[in-house]
Amino acid sequence: MLLGKRICVGWNRLLLLLPVVILIPHFLSVKELHQQMDSQDIPKEKPKKPDHLIQGPAAGEGLPNRLQCQGTRALNRTQILRFRNNSLPTDHVALVTVFTTYNSTPGSRPNEMVTVGNMSYNKVERSMAILNVFLNFVQVTMPDSHVIILTDPAFNLPLHRDTITIQPIQGEYSRDKLMLQRIRSYIMFLQTRLEKLKQKQEQVTHFIFTDSDIAVIGDLGKIFSDYPNFDLALTFRNNKDQPLNSGFIAVRGTTDGIQRGVAFLQEVLAVYSSKFMRASRMLGDQLALAWVVKSKPNFNIKRFSRGEAFQDMIGGASVLFLPCSLYNWTPPEGAGQFHGMSLDVKVVHFKGSRKRLMLEAWNFLSSSSNLPDMLCLILRSGRTKYDF
Ligand SMILES: *[C@@H]1O[C@H](CO)[C@@H](O)[C@H](O)[C@H]1NC(C)=O
Ligand SMILES: *[C@@H]1O[C@H](CO)[C@@H](O)[C@H](O)[C@H]1NC(C)=O
Ligand SMILES: *[C@@H]1O[C@H](CO)[C@@H](O)[C@H](O)[C@H]1NC(C)=O
Repeated sequence: MLLGKRICVGWNRLLLLLPVVILIPHFLSVKELHQQMDSQDIPKEKPKKPDHLIQGPAAGEGLPNRLQCQGTRALNRTQILRFRNNSLPTDHVALVTVFTTYNSTPGSRPNEMVTVGNMSYNKVERSMAILNVFLNFVQVTMPDSHVIILTDPAFNLPLHRDTITIQPIQGEYSRDKLMLQRIRSYIMFLQTRLEKLKQKQEQVTHFIFTDSDIAVIGDLGKIFSDYPNFDLALTFRNNKDQPLNSGFIAVRGTTDGIQRGVAFLQEVLAVYSSKFMRASRMLGDQLALAWVVKSKPNFNIKRFSRGEAFQDMIGGASVLFLPCSLYNWTPPEGAGQFHGMSLDVKVVHFKGSRKRLMLEAWNFLSSSSNLPDMLCLILRSGRTKYDF
């Protein structure tokens, strides 16, 4: 959208002023939020999810290699240098997300308006705002990459931006089937690419399939060169029942990589359809992913508790397992199992009721152009569930 674009242009210009900007603390807007909070009388008998950010302590305080914050001012600056360095050529990478909107979900009123900053959003507008902020983050942190949005052909996505491709894919996009359809859409998308690749109509592009409620804050393309031998990458955490999150799946864009990636996803789809259909609404894909991985003979499940990347052959595919603490960091787990935020974090995932924080974080970044400070804002505000 025009607004988003203007913000980005201004932001790039601000980068040049960065050494000066860094010195100025940026907690003004948060202070304002606190003042707003104080002046509101929230009736006690009706507990509502907060409509403004609630700041708590920054997890990971005193731990080495964890972001240290003073208010929303970051004391570590390592990230910004890496993040700004465009001098190293990266492989061709595209982020791919499945997107559609729903007018109503059980327990929510579609016309209820929610306000972030000076904007108000109804239910559908909220989904669109999340998608736009996702695109904004990619545009400023991986400016050379492309975003592909897979969507229901019946859905007319009201989005007007360059550097994105909207690709309709036939399927069943009802709320209940979306997670199932998402894997199908990934497979169909990859099969189409494979045909084009074989006919040499396309150059090699690596794909990273993600949820759209994430903020990309580091160069994800590097995984394809840092780990040159994997076909497919997944993110894991130390969680017995759901060690794998489906919100981040990378596929190497070579013929072999795509073929093996497709075969792996087809296996996941088959397991999903046969074993986890009762969970189809929410978690079926993650349960199926874990089932496929764990059913490999001699798979050492203990590696999920160590937090270091590792590789293993699953079926015919070489699968790279990346720690969620870097590639799929979520605010509530940052306070718990991740013990704060690594200085090298690359993806923040605003699951569930943290979507307000995603928009607030983007607003903060576009006014301060200070990425580490924004991470402090996220770290301190992520324990609360919000209304957005
Ligand atoms: C991060 O900042 C804190 C506070 O200034 C400092 O003690 C720590 O060494 C820094 N960490 C790294 C890895 O630079
Ligand atoms: C960017 O990377 C190049 C090559 O590694 C290095 O020489 C340069 O100092 C880096 N620049 C910044 C700002 O980090
Ligand atoms: C909303 O706020 C932004 C940033 O403060 C400002 O640039 C914009 O003009 C405002 N929009 C409206 C409609 O007030």
